[in-house]
Amino acid sequence: MNICDLQKEILRLKKEKDLCILAHSYQAKEILEVADYTGDSFQLSVMATKAPQKNVLMCGVRFMAETVKILSPEKTVYLSNPVAGCPMAEQMDKTLIESVKAANPDYTVVAYINTTSELKTVCDVCVTSSSAVKIVKKLPSDNILFIPDCNLGSFVAKQVPEKNIKLLQGGCPIHVRVSAKDVEKTRALYPNAKLLVHPECTPDVVEKADFIGSTSAIMDYAVKSDEKEFIIGTEISIAEHLSFACPDKRFYPLSKDLICSNMKSTTLMDVYHSVCGNGGEEITLDDDTMSKARKCIDRMIELG
Ligand code: 13P
Ligand code: SF4
Repeated sequence: MNICDLQKEILRLKKEKDLCILAHSYQAKEILEVADYTGDSFQLSVMATKAPQKNVLMCGVRFMAETVKILSPEKTVYLSNPVAGCPMAEQMDKTLIESVKAANPDYTVVAYINTTSELKTVCDVCVTSSSAVKIVKKLPSDNILFIPDCNLGSFVAKQVPEKNIKLLQGGCPIHVRVSAKDVEKTRALYPNAKLLVHPECTPDVVEKADFIGSTSAIMDYAVKSDEKEFIIGTEISIAEHLSFACPDKRFYPLSKDLICSNMKSTTLMDVYHSVCGNGGEEITLDDDTMSKARKCIDRMIELG
């Protein structure tokens, strides 16, 4: 079967099986084309709660599928490729955070949404890259422990200097691959381009950016801007998708190393097998994990 036929078959089967397909923006174009919704991790989990279908297939990484399950416990949620995990989400475990909390009892624990649901059970509130600053500002506590991404945490700390923000050494192994040198080199090649970066990049890169935002915020900014050239400091697929969306503009990846192999491990064939019922993995979480992790996510929704 060629790509087009495979896509047609997926579209036919998802209707027959009452299945909603969610695809994170880092997925390949042929997967985005068969999705009901595309976007960043948080947008997708909210869309899932509104979708009329009883079944949901997440094309992304495990923590995203878990977030969907927590927000829509009545739905059957599948992850299209069971090996797709986010290394950052799995960097810190519950025991570590419990011991840091015990040593810092007056700190509010703020968790990036890129965490396992198990870790969320011991955190006070979740944030996304687009809501982190707003939520940290609104929290009643002045002492914040921000996990797991110390780069997003540093970005938040700069925007909220009035709070005491403690960080642990964690972060996205993909976004930390770019350096200030890459910025220099790419700016020299494209002097008129605006630099748009994800706050998971290191502070020396973030401080040189013209715009800092989540995946969706970067895409939105580029689409709406009157500028014609952009250097994209996040997963390489975003520069590619923007080139299709805005053929009159030019998009250059900040580095060719910005490839998330976990996000890219899902193929259209995985989607097909999942839709057929002979691939993917159903996400199951115990009731205690679901209810404790949900509190952390609900607090984010309430404050964001
Ligand atoms: P967004 O929330 O911006 O989609 O980020 C998810 C992610 O994994 C970024 O690397
Ligand atoms: Fe995780 Fe980084 Fe991949 Fe995003 S890009 S899924 S944070 S490893």
